[in-house]
Amino acid sequence: MENSDAESGLENMSKISIEHLGLVYKLSKDKTSQSPKTLTALNDVNLEVMDGEFLSIVGPSGCGKSTLLYILTGLTKKTSGKAFINGREVIKPSLHCGIIMQAFALFPWRTIQRNVEYGLEVKGLPRRERRRIAAEYIELVGLKDFADRFPYELSGGMKQRIAIARALAYDPDVLLMDEPFASVDEQTRSFLHAELLRI
Ligand SMILES: Nc1ncnc2c1ncn2[C@@H]1O[C@H](COP(=O)(O)OP(=O)(O)OP(=O)(O)O)[C@@H](O)[C@H]1O
Ligand SMILES: [Mg+2]
Repeated sequence: MENSDAESGLENMSKISIEHLGLVYKLSKDKTSQSPKTLTALNDVNLEVMDGEFLSIVGPSGCGKSTLLYILTGLTKKTSGKAFINGREVIKPSLHCGIIMQAFALFPWRTIQRNVEYGLEVKGLPRRERRRIAAEYIELVGLKDFADRFPYELSGGMKQRIAIARALAYDPDVLLMDEPFASVDEQTRSFLHAELLRI
């Protein structure tokens, strides 16, 4: 009885919880005034995402979507409020959270294959297993013939597909995606949409 209660308690816990979150960027000093200028990117943001939920944030350019995601990854520091993943306050980057960044963020010195293997290395998977999983996701995004190439040899849309493959192969607890399909063509986009929902 106690056990099942504890388990159902865990299931009901929110995956992501954001409370009164704010971020004010300090901008470079304005010549006309003594004090540095600031820019409020986020102000009193509150939201909750449950296990298994898929949430999209929509808004005009510059409204703070990327900023919110970066705070959740622990890469950017908030200036007020709190963010939690699995009930733990986000204070630094963690292995629970994967991200597909707006600017891809591939490692230029690694081949496509080894870019996709990266998260699996961090997880400590044996080499054979890493190779197999990475190859599977590279094939899924249609870039099997490019596995031994380097990021600079790929187009923007291809790089983006590799960033998607890398994040999916890693299979994180929480996957954050910053406009992951922005630079892929319409056909690939609808294919990847369907695959993502399936996965
Ligand atoms: N490092 C920074 N320093 C100062 N201001 C910043 C910084 N990063 C972002 N901003 C500002 O914060 C605001 C929100 O930016 P953000 O990148 O989160 O927007 P966005 O909603 O992701 O936009 P887009 O749809 O164009 O990607 C913008 O006004 C931007 O100029
Ligand atoms: Mg953005």
